[in-house]
Amino acid sequence: MEIKTVAVLGAGLMGHGIAEVCAMAGYNVTMRDIKQEFVDRGMNMIKESLAKLEQKGKIKSAEEVLSRIKPTVDLEEAVKDADLVIEAVPEVVEIKKQVWEEVDKLAKPDCIFTSNTSTMRITMLADFTSRPEKFAGLHFFNPPVLMRLVEVIRGEKTSDEVMDLLVEFVKSIGKTPVRVEKDVPGFIANRVVAPRGVLLHAVVEAENLTPEEVDAAFRKAGYPMGPFELADYVGIDVNYNAARYFARAVSPEYEPPERVRKMVEEGRLGRKTGRGWYDWSGGKPKIDLSKATGKINVEDFLMVEINEAVKLVEMGVAKPEDIDIALKLGYGRQKGPFELLEEFGKERVARRLEELAKKYGKKIFEPAESLRT
Ligand SMILES: NC(=O)c1ccc[n+]([C@@H]2O[C@H](COP(=O)([O-])OP(=O)(O)OC[C@H]3O[C@@H](n4cnc5c(N)ncnc54)[C@H](O)[C@@H]3O)[C@@H](O)[C@H]2O)c1
Repeated sequence: MEIKTVAVLGAGLMGHGIAEVCAMAGYNVTMRDIKQEFVDRGMNMIKESLAKLEQKGKIKSAEEVLSRIKPTVDLEEAVKDADLVIEAVPEVVEIKKQVWEEVDKLAKPDCIFTSNTSTMRITMLADFTSRPEKFAGLHFFNPPVLMRLVEVIRGEKTSDEVMDLLVEFVKSIGKTPVRVEKDVPGFIANRVVAPRGVLLHAVVEAENLTPEEVDAAFRKAGYPMGPFELADYVGIDVNYNAARYFARAVSPEYEPPERVRKMVEEGRLGRKTGRGWYDWSGGKPKIDLSKATGKINVEDFLMVEINEAVKLVEMGVAKPEDIDIALKLGYGRQKGPFELLEEFGKERVARRLEELAKKYGKKIFEPAESLRT
C-alpha cells in the first residue's frame, strides 16, 4: 500500500511539527485538534517555522507547503481519506483510548495507525482498535522539524509489512528511522539515558556535592552543560515525571529523591519558573569551573548507559548499530554506547559497573549478562 495522505491528531508541541515535516516531504496532511483556537495556534506555529525555513533557503516556498496542510476540528474529515494516522494527543490513557476507538470506526480499513506516545505501551493502544496488526509506535523527538531521529516501535501484534512500510515512510520525510522490535518502557534513546539520573543522585548524596561542583566537573570534562544546568533547562518536572515513570515501569531504583519531589511541589521547576537547582532571576547561572569536584567520575555516566544499551540488545529490542544511531541523533552524542564499549573494552566496563552497583547498592548498575561473560 502507498501512503499519500497523513492525518495528524493533535496540533500541540509535537503534532504541529510532525504535520509540518510531512507536508514538507510532499504528503497531503490533515491536522486535527479539538478546538478551533488550538488548530489555529498550531497552524500559526507552522507558518512561523516555514517562513524561517524559506528565509534560510531550506525550502522553496512556504506557501506551497502550507497549501498541503488542511486544519480541522472534525475527526471524520481528518481521517476518512488518510492512509496513515499519527496520533499526538495528550499523554492520558482515557484521551488516547477515546481517540483510537473513534478513529478505528472512521478510517479506511487499510489505514495504518501510529502513536507518538513516549510512555504508553503500543500494544495497549493497539488493542483499543480492531486492527492491532496495523498499529505501531512512531516516536518523534522534540522539535520534530530539527530532530532527525524517529523510533519505529513494534507492538506485540504489529505486522512485518507495517514495520517495513513505516521505516520507508520515515526515510521519505527526511528522518532517520531506528527499529524498536519490542515494546519496552522508554523504547531506545530515553531508556538508555535513564540510569544517568539514578547515578547522579546516588553520587551527589554519597559525596555531599553541590550542583555547581558537579556541573563544573562535567564542563571541565568537555560537556557543554552539566546535568543540573541541563535539568533546569529541560524542567525539573519533566525529569521528575520521567523518573517516576521508570520507577513504575522498570525498577523502583529509578524513584526520584525526596528533594526533587519537593522542588516540583514548590514549583521550583528550573528556567521556566526562575528557580530550580539555580537561581535564574539574573539570567543564565554562572558556573565557576574552579569549584569542579574530583569526586565524580564523568565516565561512569557512560558506563551505565552502555550497560542499559547492552541489556536492550539482550532483550531483543534493537540492534547495536540502531542504538548507537538513536543516542547520537536523539541525545547529540558523538559516539554511541557500542562504539564506546569497543573503546573501553568489556572487562573494564563490567568491572566498573560491579563497583558502582556495590558502592551505591543499585541492582540496575550490575553488569548485563553478556558483559560478564
Ligand atoms: N513534548 C515532547 O517533548 C514529546 C516528545 C516525544 C513524544 N511526545 C508525545 O507526544 C504526544 C503529544 O505531546 P505534546 O507535547 O505535543 O502535547 P501538547 O499538550 O503540546 O499537545 C497535545 C494537543 O492535543 C490536543 N488534543 C487533546 N485531545 C485531543 C483529541 N481528542 N484529538 C485531537 N487533539 C487533541 C490538545 O488540545 C493539544 O493541542 C504525547 O503522547 C507525548 O508523550 C512528546
